[in-house]
Amino acid sequence: MKDFTRQHRISSLSEYTKAYDSSVKDPESFWSDIASSFKWKKKWNQTLKWDFEAPDVKWFLGGKLNITENLLDRHLEERGEEVAILWEPNDPDEKGLSISYRELHRKVCQFANAMISKGVAKGDRVIIYMPMVPEAAVAMLACARIGAVHSVVFAGFSASALADRINDCEAKMVLTSDGNFRGAKTIDVKGVVDEAVAKCGCIEKVIVYQRTKSDVHMESGRDLWWHDAIQDVSEEHQAEEMDAEDLLFILYTSGSTGKPKGVVHTCGGYMVYTYYSFLNVFQYKPGDIYWCTADVGWITGHSYIVYGPLLAGATTVMFEGVPTYPDAGRFWEVCDKYQVNQFYTAPTAIRALEAHGLELVEKHKLDSLRVIGSVGEPINEEAWHWYHEHIGKRKCPLVDTWWQTETGGIMISALAGITPNKPAHASLPLPGIQPVIVDSEGNELTGNNVEGNLCVKFPWPSILRTTYGDHERCKHTYFSAYKNMYFTGDGAKRDHDGYLRILGRVDDVINVSGHRMGTAEVENAIDEHPKVIESAVVGYPHDIKGQGIYAFVIAETDGIEDEIKETVNKMIGPIAKPDKIQIVPGLPKTRSGKIMRRILRKIASKETDNLGDTSTLLNPEVVEEIIKGAS
Ligand code: WT7
Repeated sequence: MKDFTRQHRISSLSEYTKAYDSSVKDPESFWSDIASSFKWKKKWNQTLKWDFEAPDVKWFLGGKLNITENLLDRHLEERGEEVAILWEPNDPDEKGLSISYRELHRKVCQFANAMISKGVAKGDRVIIYMPMVPEAAVAMLACARIGAVHSVVFAGFSASALADRINDCEAKMVLTSDGNFRGAKTIDVKGVVDEAVAKCGCIEKVIVYQRTKSDVHMESGRDLWWHDAIQDVSEEHQAEEMDAEDLLFILYTSGSTGKPKGVVHTCGGYMVYTYYSFLNVFQYKPGDIYWCTADVGWITGHSYIVYGPLLAGATTVMFEGVPTYPDAGRFWEVCDKYQVNQFYTAPTAIRALEAHGLELVEKHKLDSLRVIGSVGEPINEEAWHWYHEHIGKRKCPLVDTWWQTETGGIMISALAGITPNKPAHASLPLPGIQPVIVDSEGNELTGNNVEGNLCVKFPWPSILRTTYGDHERCKHTYFSAYKNMYFTGDGAKRDHDGYLRILGRVDDVINVSGHRMGTAEVENAIDEHPKVIESAVVGYPHDIKGQGIYAFVIAETDGIEDEIKETVNKMIGPIAKPDKIQIVPGLPKTRSGKIMRRILRKIASKETDNLGDTSTLLNPEVVEEIIKGAS
């Protein structure tokens, strides 16, 4: 079998340096060369047009393609019988699935036809609210095939959060399941969809994949079963011709204001970048088995379970369950079972599994692993070493990959075994990525041993194009803080060796178990409780989750902590439930009425020795009372 990936896989440090230099000197030829290896229906006539002021970024202008032709059709001749998806169910005793590229192609074409027959057309938005079953990937790819814009919503979000997203993008269809198996639990999915859709006028059809065989309500005229929808439907479909800048998907993510925003990615640039970054960071070679443990509801699942790996013709493992079921050795068992070569997970999972002890690790060989990876939050040195030593057996490079929903793909990371590994450092930018560290005035801090805010000064192909329906917000959030730069919201340090270390968010976003939460979003949810007067939410260090959610609440009565948690659960979902709730007599405010979160963060982190200047507060006396209440 010809290795078509060889051409763009960097295989030595000097090749990295060479690629990096040329990507900075002449970004257009650099990306144009990579893009040329894909199947285009029509070649682009301009590689890049950009203006960070507007912002307006376009790649491969005038190019026409369909991303699914590049991740399915293109592979059929040479690797049609190779495994595209290896599916591991929640229950280890249930039989898994091995789906070849040819079968996946058939399933996607068939479901594409089914969606068309149910009234979905190019440009329509489709919500995917599904468990981790291969049909979730089929659903995404069928949308891409017909030019519908998918918006996957993590199936742990509540009905209210789901309804907000459906309404924001005015989706026409929801693809979902009857239920979801997660560990020992069966979770109701269809009931949540019913409750959400009742609040949305735009949904015409709901297609339900039968997974748990739960007894669910099917609304006549609106709902239909997946297996009925594909009954007698053709498995052939001519992929829709898409412009390189047509929308591929919207993915909602949290920001520093209350409402989640729909990050928009487009077809051409996203395709080129996810492919290139996947290949190089993980050093994937044909025949390898690759496993990313994320959920398709997050960007990691989009770029590095589905799109990146399939574009590279890889075998991607998809896991339905949770790391601790039936026991905390499940990840390692699955690694051995499928002889996984590249394993990609989150620091929170590492820390949680580490806490279960080594016995469950040592029962497994883990000798197929060649590369291990981390994503979602800064990985602390302790967890880094444990992962490197006990899972990677000191022989696997550990890639600490920094990126964001907005960046579409991995931006700063070692290339496994090619560029040096440094504990807790994302390390070096990928070719094509030009990160800068700036001070508060926006001056670029060059040289080593500098710390500041992390920006990127030149576009890359998978940069977000807009926030859906609100371009002003995109401009304001990412392109206004510093002139002519994309601002990430993270702080970073370039150390004495020139390696980048991500220091965490500098805005009002907290990172709980690798999931992004806006403090304002959680506050809005808490404030829905009828007895709550005001609340302030901050993050604090948490051993397993990285950051926990600490809520300071002014309420009419005590003893409503559990009710508040339930309110948040209902408004957003279990991932946003505060770990700690403290009912307080007041919140520290400036004279202009702004909550001084800095002080609350210190109290939540038990760093009360050094609270800084509190004399400018409107109500300095409240600080003492909050400290007393916290201990
Ligand atoms: C935020 C983005 C990227 C996919 C998963 C999260 C933090 C992500 C790292 C890392 C330190 C990291 C940042 C970033 N983050 N990866 N390797 N080291 N921090 O995507 O939900 O869009 O969150 O996650 O703070 O801004 P996301």
